Amino acid sequence: MIELGHTTKTHDESRQGEALELLPTGKSTGRKLYIESYGCQMNFSDSEIVASILVDNGFETTKDYKEADVVFINTCSIRENAEQRVRNRLKEFESAKAKNPGMIVGVLGCMAERLKAKFLEEEKLVDVVVGPDAYRDLPNLIDQVDDGAKAVNVLLSREETYADINPVRLNSNGISAFISIMRGCDNMCSFCVVPFTRGRERSRDPHSIVKEAQELFDAGYREVTLLGQNVDSYKYSPIVKEGEESLPVVNFAQLLALVAEVSPEMRVRFSTSHPKDITDEVLHMIANYENICKYIHLPVQSGNSRVLELMNRTYDREWYMERIDAIRRIIPDCAISTDIITGFCSETEEEHAETLSIMDYVKYDFAYMFAYSERPGTLAAKRYEDDVPEDVKKRRLTEVVNKQQEHSLYRLQDYVGKIHKVLIEGYSKRSDADYCGRNDQNSMVVFPVDERFKPGEYTNVLVERCTSATLIGRIVH
Ligand code: SAH
Ligand code: SF4
Ligand code: F3S
Repeated sequence: MIELGHTTKTHDESRQGEALELLPTGKSTGRKLYIESYGCQMNFSDSEIVASILVDNGFETTKDYKEADVVFINTCSIRENAEQRVRNRLKEFESAKAKNPGMIVGVLGCMAERLKAKFLEEEKLVDVVVGPDAYRDLPNLIDQVDDGAKAVNVLLSREETYADINPVRLNSNGISAFISIMRGCDNMCSFCVVPFTRGRERSRDPHSIVKEAQELFDAGYREVTLLGQNVDSYKYSPIVKEGEESLPVVNFAQLLALVAEVSPEMRVRFSTSHPKDITDEVLHMIANYENICKYIHLPVQSGNSRVLELMNRTYDREWYMERIDAIRRIIPDCAISTDIITGFCSETEEEHAETLSIMDYVKYDFAYMFAYSERPGTLAAKRYEDDVPEDVKKRRLTEVVNKQQEHSLYRLQDYVGKIHKVLIEGYSKRSDADYCGRNDQNSMVVFPVDERFKPGEYTNVLVERCTSATLIGRIVH
């Protein structure tokens, strides 16, 4: 196994799982749930829905899997090493289950969807396998396991958005939260397993999104991140009943405005944008609202048009560069980050050099970078040979990582000497004498505590210096 993912910031499957402690809202069953998550923010957000469903069904939660009656692992399939990490973790649960044979072990999320019932054969300790659209069925599936059966529900849905479920906030700082605005993906990028594990794209009712944002604001939250695999294709068409007037369709730009209107004191972020779908209307909306953050994650994947075509990304190098120009024109102070894959099927040295040169063109603020990992069932696995040797993929990845480090530093250095509006998230990891928080562009800023300001409040920070990933400064009035 080689390490395929490299990041300059914490990112998807490299993030560790988390647990939570909550008391049941319904009649207590005295049973304890432990849940751990891997993968992207959507998966972490789903775990909050799962916890909510089970707490409503009388479960309380625990941070220690050894004392749990039900142990869930919410999984990711995006690269082979993401799956390997889950399998290793399942091995660690074996001894706990040996001591407590009544313990139920469940696999949720993308790996559950990809492997379905096969999981039960491959990993004997697993009792229940549940795909991302079947979480409402969990109480019933647990009952089946209590009755001595193994249980599987991996049905994908065209409608499920869990719009009415109030997620419980796990491991939250009480200041920033995620709101899932859509599920699934219809894009079929040839390398990607997500359309198979998450099903068809569907958008959530904007009213329920705005309501959730308002409730978060009322509870003291000051930042929401709207989540979807391709937020720019968000589109909600209200269902019109007979005799009623038809209501207008809501697109992503309009949704951004609706959420931004909840309060000028609440920041709005979003992820992920797709280069083929991000419109000038969205860019103008970002520019128009002070509280919509000037930060766009716009995955390029490759800087070469032939490779992009093989990847089925449906844009080419020129189109991507034009979108970058539009961002710079409409939102001059916007930070831009990206995802890059090195060593995709048949990628040549010249084509790889074009990825490096597009990085030079954009000078990303940061990037998530990966060596290509073939995923069973994807279009690329069926059509193309995974023919770039692992050592070449890794060497190209190192070149991309090194270049990104230069660019990240370049961008941070540009912030030095300027005053930034920072939302205080809490004390810095290193010291209780310092606060940390992000600027509009999503860069982490660390500065000495000033008792007049509390976490959840905004303050102006003069940035005096930077490390490779953090801005350092002091509060100014
Ligand atoms: N919806 C987002 C990305 C979701 S997956 C988008 O369209 O950009 C996050 C990132 O993982 C992708 O952007 C891609 O860079 C990477 N990735 C996905 N499949 C991969 C694979 N098979 N091998 C390596 N990296 C992959
Ligand atoms: Fe995967 Fe492409 Fe959909 Fe992103 S847009 S989730 S990379 S298929
Ligand atoms: Fe992984 Fe599924 Fe997200 S494959 S990246 S957890 S959508």
